[in-house]
Amino acid sequence: MSTEIEDAREFWNRVADDWQTQVGRDGDANRRLNSDPVLWSFAGDVQGLKVLDAGCGTGYLSIKLAERGALVTGIDFSERMIAIARATDPTTDFHVDSCSELSTIEDDAFDMVVANYVLMDTPDLEGTIVALHRVLKPGGVAVLVFSHPCFPAGRATVPGNRSGATYVWDFPYFQRQKCIDPPWAHFTSEFTWFHRPLSDYWKAFIAAGFAVIDFEEPRVTEDRYHLVETERALKKSQACPYSVAFKLQKAAKSA
Ligand SMILES: C[S@@+](CC[C@H](N)C(=O)[O-])C[C@H]1O[C@@H](n2cnc3c(N)ncnc32)[C@H](O)[C@@H]1O
Repeated sequence: MSTEIEDAREFWNRVADDWQTQVGRDGDANRRLNSDPVLWSFAGDVQGLKVLDAGCGTGYLSIKLAERGALVTGIDFSERMIAIARATDPTTDFHVDSCSELSTIEDDAFDMVVANYVLMDTPDLEGTIVALHRVLKPGGVAVLVFSHPCFPAGRATVPGNRSGATYVWDFPYFQRQKCIDPPWAHFTSEFTWFHRPLSDYWKAFIAAGFAVIDFEEPRVTEDRYHLVETERALKKSQACPYSVAFKLQKAAKSA
């Protein structure tokens, strides 16, 4: 394992218990209000499908996929994340593996892979995309949700009395950069993540052999306004794109 991957793994081990507090059994507000509806719409009917939740964290999404009838495997390189996921749901296959290699998984094993807020956290984008492509069956689908690379939520200021948002960029957007953000919400640790411009993601998808079949910038829709706890949270959700969502497909085998 490279030092960068080892450092990232140690970081996620340190914050795993706080992460469980963040997402609980249903996902945090951003997931519930903004991105999960898009993820489910891209995933479609998962009944009977073999689904890999890559970078499953404490497993809230794996458990929801299993409740919808999917045959789920959840992997994460953080041992602590996997221990929490197993304790929450001993019936799902949760085990330690790195998205960069997926060395525990054979080629062409899954109908679908999901990676929910993982790609900006993996030190090795290209290796991860190649591995996700490898483990998909021909014609299989990848649903990838990750923090919006153009509008980093941790660097946004939303003014109280008018609409819009201001973003602070203290390095060039086009430069790949390891970022360290201050602790947020109940977390006590700084957060490490990896900025890459949006085009780098697109190029990695195409280079691995994926076709891009859908794309969305998830936001709260009117039918969910009543679920938002404060006016300010609603305004932020309407003004700031937190994430991007891609639906990709591995080519079917030609006859
Ligand atoms: C922001 S959390 C998201 C967790 C979960 N998908 C969710 O939505 O709650 C990112 C997760 O990706 C995992 N991760 C990051 N890079 C990884 C890699 N190369 N291999 C496996 N897991 C990785 C971290 O350990 C962490 O659990």
